[in-house]
Amino acid sequence: MAAGMILCMSMQLFCACSKEPVYETDQIYVGVTYYDQSDTFLNQLIDCLKERLQDYDEEGYETTLLVREASNSQRTQDDQVKELIDAGCNVLCVNLVDRTDPSEIIDLARENNVPIVFFNREPVAEDMMQWDKLYYVGAPASQSGVMQGELAVELIQSDPLIDRNRDGKIQFVILEGEAGHQDAIIRTENVVETLKSNHIEIEKLGNGIANWNRAQAQNQMLQMIGQHQNKIELVLANNDDMALGAIDAYEKLNYTESALPVFLGIDGTDVGLEAVRNSKLAGTVYNDKEGQAEAMAKLSVALVSGKGMGEIEFEEERYIYLPYSKVTGSTVEEFMGR
Ligand code: GAL
Ligand code: CA
Repeated sequence: MAAGMILCMSMQLFCACSKEPVYETDQIYVGVTYYDQSDTFLNQLIDCLKERLQDYDEEGYETTLLVREASNSQRTQDDQVKELIDAGCNVLCVNLVDRTDPSEIIDLARENNVPIVFFNREPVAEDMMQWDKLYYVGAPASQSGVMQGELAVELIQSDPLIDRNRDGKIQFVILEGEAGHQDAIIRTENVVETLKSNHIEIEKLGNGIANWNRAQAQNQMLQMIGQHQNKIELVLANNDDMALGAIDAYEKLNYTESALPVFLGIDGTDVGLEAVRNSKLAGTVYNDKEGQAEAMAKLSVALVSGKGMGEIEFEEERYIYLPYSKVTGSTVEEFMGR
């Protein structure tokens, strides 16, 4: 029995030790959890992160990456964070399911002293103040809306045929990302503002929330075409997948090319860029996944190893925003195969 007790105690000790993340080590165990596996942009961003972390292996670090997807459930994600910490992760990269509900995750991380790099779904400022080892990597949402608006302005000004019914106004619809997502809200506001401030007369015929999703966008678009038939002249989508879903809807209805509205997306995913190249999408706005992945990798390595933190430039000490770029048919090649 005594032997059993000793074994038991030493096992507890062992467990207690292995739970403590070791700091200032060159062994970087990155635990990633993201909101849903169906998201095209995030799947590509996480592939980039894998590559960028591997680059650090050549610099003498030993990196390991564990990835979980939360199937759009914050509960599931909270459990995953616990599991990742238990598995020995010494830094976490978290793409929140519900960006207003990170408290559970922050508590877990703080108790175990594991820093968090939130990415793409920005927590609200108050939550970022909950602990000093919380960071955010993303992109300035308003810029993407403004750029999409500028792309639309350039097209409308250079091609009078976009105003199909020649009434001097551009009839448009918007396909929006998730309700409550910073990118959906801000992109929508800014694209419309940019059209107005450039003196384009616009008339909004409708909008649909399609949660960044191609199939949902197709459905929303089918409904809007049903309501407005040939009146739609411009389709503004908060991301490429939804722009492609809108195109799918027109293809399903066998619209001829000359009867189609103009489509604009945001992201520059592989499928998005391909669609710009063959002129299905008039343009997109590049969401710099390589830059974001690089920032996440660099920050993760610095947080764990204690090296290189001084070289990282932050906004308000804990935010990193990578700029967007406009993509059109004439610049698309620059972005392909980045
Ligand atoms: C946006 C991106 C969308 C989607 C979303 C998920 O930045 O443009 O395509 O990935 O993030 O949070
Ligand atoms: Ca018109």
